[in-house]
Amino acid sequence: MAGLRGVVFDAYGTLFDVYSIGKRAEQRYPGMGAAISTTWRDKQIEYSRLVTLSDPSASGSRHYQTFWELTRAALVYSLQKLNLSHTAVEIDDLMSGYARLDAYPECLTVLQAVKASGLICAILSNGSPDMLSAAAESSGLTPWLDHLISVDSVRQFKTSPACYALASQVLGTPTESLLFVSSNGWDVVGARWFGFRTCWVNRQGLPFETIGERPHHMCSALDGVLALVNS
Ligand code: LAC
Repeated sequence: MAGLRGVVFDAYGTLFDVYSIGKRAEQRYPGMGAAISTTWRDKQIEYSRLVTLSDPSASGSRHYQTFWELTRAALVYSLQKLNLSHTAVEIDDLMSGYARLDAYPECLTVLQAVKASGLICAILSNGSPDMLSAAAESSGLTPWLDHLISVDSVRQFKTSPACYALASQVLGTPTESLLFVSSNGWDVVGARWFGFRTCWVNRQGLPFETIGERPHHMCSALDGVLALVNS
């Protein structure tokens, strides 16, 4: 890829498996693990949009809460919606699992290959800084990541342009020279609109979003990125 300077990965759903928490939830709430993890994820993203859309000004952010706080609120909502009894014990246990989500098995090889090819390797995520460092550390990915960029510094969530602008600012290279990789179709649309080269990792065999431009590249798992960085 001519002129490529770096690869910027989304975190949750792309490097870290947000549905792996379903196994832990299943132990606490037999038969409900999948429903909890799906409802939890949907509500987490909905809340991130709610606070940003309600106050998108650069200096405002009156409604902003960290992704960690929103993730906790989304969990409480999900357990209430599913009529599952809970105390601080269950909430704390599931949140501590969320802090150490499984990384997808191919992540390490892919990040190592990105670094070996001389490219900058970074995360750009809604996750708060402590969430990102805990997840990268517990999955052994820290040594291969040059930057863990959290949107927390702009107090807005993706797909706000202020969030996508952080990559170029932190890496010191134009957005067009960066490949943005995400499993979230909406995130790929936002990143492409902002000006990144984009790769959609379609792990679930979903149709791509029916608004916005198509991604530049698509693959079914993260190792599809290997062919791109070596081309
Ligand atoms: C992130 C979420 C949106 O890591 O997946 O930014």
